[in-house]
Amino acid sequence: MKQDASTPQHVVFEDVEALADEALVRVLEAAARALADRGRFDLVLSGGSTPRRLYQRLSRLAPERLSGWHFWQGDERFVPPEHPDSNLAMVAESLLDPAGVSPESVHSVPTTAGTPEEVARLYAREIEDQLAGEPFDLVLLGMGADGHTASLFPGTSALDERDELVTVARPTTAPHVRITLTFPVLEAARQVLFLVAGDDKREKVEELFAASAEPSLYPAARACSRRGTTTWLLDRAAAPAAHS
Ligand code: 6PG
Repeated sequence: MKQDASTPQHVVFEDVEALADEALVRVLEAAARALADRGRFDLVLSGGSTPRRLYQRLSRLAPERLSGWHFWQGDERFVPPEHPDSNLAMVAESLLDPAGVSPESVHSVPTTAGTPEEVARLYAREIEDQLAGEPFDLVLLGMGADGHTASLFPGTSALDERDELVTVARPTTAPHVRITLTFPVLEAARQVLFLVAGDDKREKVEELFAASAEPSLYPAARACSRRGTTTWLLDRAAAPAAHS
């Protein structure tokens, strides 16, 4: 049955390894479609820890399997690339470096290039230059225990940004100033894929999946593709009882 864009699909897996196996299948399927259609695959990588297993799986593919791929960041902490909290550092260590991805295929948030606002503008300009109006093919996202996704945190003005592709977020519930893609970019994506694991997420997932969930309180609930599909891959620990 074709999934309509507005209804996220939820799929539950026994554990985070099975979740990562499925995520790999879906990323490779999206890549094959994009490369066949346009000769390139623009993939947005999430930060955090859950996607690390997927990134390690991708890094073990034969290098030619990643030919034509372009790697982007969904969000970044406003820290230098060598900082232990840098999402780029995690992505480089788990995927880019071991896979030998060429620098030309990596589009990272240039956190040392100026103020947070200048960095956001520079990253947005690279998206405009590289994609020339095309949407991202696949956006990988996670969800924090507070319901945030990318660096779109509850109660921040970043949630209201509808004109810019990239904005600055100043969360009060997490460290660092952040640079993040905005909702319009996520909504324009051909596909959004959430990777959510761990029992610390279950309560928020239950609230978020409840029909009465107020989207403004759950940014992750608003991160839906409007042109394609949105799928949540959850492990059993994070999945509400009704979905297990
Ligand atoms: C970040 C991430 C963030 C992450 C969630 C979930 O910069 O922290 O982009 O949005 O996806 O916080 O993180 P875990 O996967 O580590 O639970």
